[in-house]
Amino acid sequence: METYSNINDHVQLHDRLFVTLFTEEQVQERVREIGAELTGAYRDKCPLFVSILSGAFVFAADLMRAFDGDCEVGFVKLSSYSGTRSAGDVQTVMGLEKDLRGRHIIVVEDIVDTGRTLHFFLDHLRSRQPASVCTVAFLRKPDAAVFPVQVDYVGFDIEDRFVVGYGLDYDGLGRNLPGVFQLSE
Ligand code: XMP
Ligand code: MG
Repeated sequence: METYSNINDHVQLHDRLFVTLFTEEQVQERVREIGAELTGAYRDKCPLFVSILSGAFVFAADLMRAFDGDCEVGFVKLSSYSGTRSAGDVQTVMGLEKDLRGRHIIVVEDIVDTGRTLHFFLDHLRSRQPASVCTVAFLRKPDAAVFPVQVDYVGFDIEDRFVVGYGLDYDGLGRNLPGVFQLSE
């Protein structure tokens, strides 16, 4: 069975068809804009980008290269999601070993859906006494919000539909797509 095809404006992953939501050009333009805003706010603060794995690794890699100044990056692995529905408890699987005291933290998330992941992680971060924390989400689904979280920088607000690409996967596939695709109903 063919599990991958990418013809013009749609892509098939496993058994599902996805259609283009944002092109690579739209994504890259928005990343540059957010990078410029972060540069303005953090240029002399040597911020620590903290990327939530796995989904945010693509966005984090582009975002930190759109940041003009000294910075560091770290990764944290949490899990809350399988298949096409948000489910289960958030758990820290792999943590940040670095000392965060006095650091300016920029949390980088792929997508804020119910807000559970970010809500949990921000609680954890605050206990580690950083100088400041801000949040950047590549995508946000405002209609799906359940947990109150402040997202300081948002790439795009989207409908409450399952999306893939630019780091986001459908059962493992699609993370390498340079644009964003949404599940076709
Ligand atoms: P919560 O509900 O904690 O969800 O805000 C955030 C995490 O859920 C995953 N997620 C998705 N993954 N397409 C995906 O590939 C989606 O449409 C989607 N919605 C949520 C994602 O891992 C995110 O970090
Ligand atoms: Mg994720």
